Amino acid sequence: MKCITDIKALRELLKQWRRAGESIAFVPTMGNLHAGHLQLVNRAKAQADRVVVSIFVNPTQFGVGEDFSLYPRTEQADQEKLQAIFVDAVFMPSTEEMYPVNELTKVSVSQVSENHCGAARPGHFDGVATVVCKLFNIVQPDKAFFGEKDFQQLTVINAMVADLNLPVEIISVPTVRESDGLAMSSRNGYLTPEQREQAPQLYQSLCTAKVLIRDKKTAYIDIEKQQKKFLEEQGFRPDYFSICRRYDLQTAGQDDSEIVILVAAKIGKTRLIDNIQVDVEH
Ligand code: PAJ
Repeated sequence: MKCITDIKALRELLKQWRRAGESIAFVPTMGNLHAGHLQLVNRAKAQADRVVVSIFVNPTQFGVGEDFSLYPRTEQADQEKLQAIFVDAVFMPSTEEMYPVNELTKVSVSQVSENHCGAARPGHFDGVATVVCKLFNIVQPDKAFFGEKDFQQLTVINAMVADLNLPVEIISVPTVRESDGLAMSSRNGYLTPEQREQAPQLYQSLCTAKVLIRDKKTAYIDIEKQQKKFLEEQGFRPDYFSICRRYDLQTAGQDDSEIVILVAAKIGKTRLIDNIQVDVEH
């Protein structure tokens, strides 16, 4: 496995692979790799000749007072995990390599960036879209892999790729969960043992809402209120619990078929997000 920190060296390597007619899959990450990330890598390996993983804790997607400086950096362990599953190259640029000057350009995807996590974390999705666009331009992959765990992020990336005609196919990968249902996340490591015990209730609230939606007896707004209350009783501070249309993340009506339920809630200082998809037959 090649470990590369500069853009020029990465481009050189990619050029050789392309010259040999090999297809390239790309998995962008912020490191602290867990089984969710590795699932993306395994899907990538199955669909391309070469796999590139990036590890970059992107400062521009963290707001003031968020966890940028605390975010777990475990580069050695990450490299070992990627080596063990035969990744071809890991790209680990410094902040200076990615942002050498005071950039004047940013990528901003309107509408789907604005509600849910976008409302709670102003500028977050501009930071994500901009760094992913830069990484796509550096790697120029045939396919790029993103987790459904970050459903709004996936929606933002799909819109950016479509709107800007970026020549990359986006492949989404279902959320990998712990055995008790908690979605795997680098931020789970912030939880105290007690909070870790409470945390699966977040997924539980989504599962309950899914049953209620399928039952068709309760108005969506009441399901949202009930589940927020449930989360408060379990010791969370819910930020949003939203039943949305999957294609544009706007509020779902009772006659919509393709639904995603999005939730974000804090336990102590840790903000967790999760989502679940529901298909409703009419
Ligand atoms: P990060 O949080 O490291 O996640 C990298 C990729 O792994 C994302 O596509 C995310 O959705 C996916 N992922 C995380 N947890 C997962 C799980 N439990 N199951 C399946 N996939 C999971 O998301 C980012 O980094 C950044 O915003 C990034 C896209 C790299 C831009 O900086």
